[in-house]
Amino acid sequence: MSKIIVSPSILSADFANLERDIKLVENNGADWIHVDVMDGHFVPNITIGVPVVKSLRAITNLPLDVHLMIENPEKYIEPFAKAGADILTFHYEAVQKNEVKKVINLIKSFGVKTGLSIKPKTSPDEVLEYLPELDLLLVMTVEPGFGGQKFMDDCAEKIKVIKQYAHENLIIQVDGGINDKTGKICTEYGANSLVAGNYIYKSENIKQAINSLKQ
Ligand code: DX5
Ligand code: ZN
Repeated sequence: MSKIIVSPSILSADFANLERDIKLVENNGADWIHVDVMDGHFVPNITIGVPVVKSLRAITNLPLDVHLMIENPEKYIEPFAKAGADILTFHYEAVQKNEVKKVINLIKSFGVKTGLSIKPKTSPDEVLEYLPELDLLLVMTVEPGFGGQKFMDDCAEKIKVIKQYAHENLIIQVDGGINDKTGKICTEYGANSLVAGNYIYKSENIKQAINSLKQ
């Protein structure tokens, strides 16, 4: 069985103590740090941007897994790449269909891992043609915008379709309502990267929570 990449979402951390909360997961088995960037347009919520990523780069060696929930992602690829993002994932629904390849190539041009994400209502069939060019495909199992929402089982089913067409090195990531139980459903379907915010940060034993996602 391949190794599960656990990417704690700092959306559930204490923003006044980000360094402390990143060290907390870093010292307890986290593989990546998931950074949710929201613009108040593509999703109703507003979170953090380039300066925060730049500051985080200075305090952790873990890969920064940046999830862009923003309109016009092409405008922000270069700044986020230069700020130190290691993985840049944008939303399929945020760009025109004929622009998807262009954004993928733009991310690649900065030598950053390239991710594409689909919202709950988007069929996996729409993104199959891009899989050969991607390092990561992110299946959302909640409507993007907020942490702490309920896992949508039917969305997880999409993992099976993606897995069937994925190249050997494609990382299939899942985000939204992930805990030990829902994470297991996803990894059984073929996911190998789990994002979790509330489950990790609200748990009493962070190490155990992170470990449980790797089982
Ligand atoms: C939601 C974000 C998620 C969020 C997950 O739009 O993309 O990364 O932090 O939070 P939980 O794990 O609490 O559902
Ligand atoms: Zn996310």
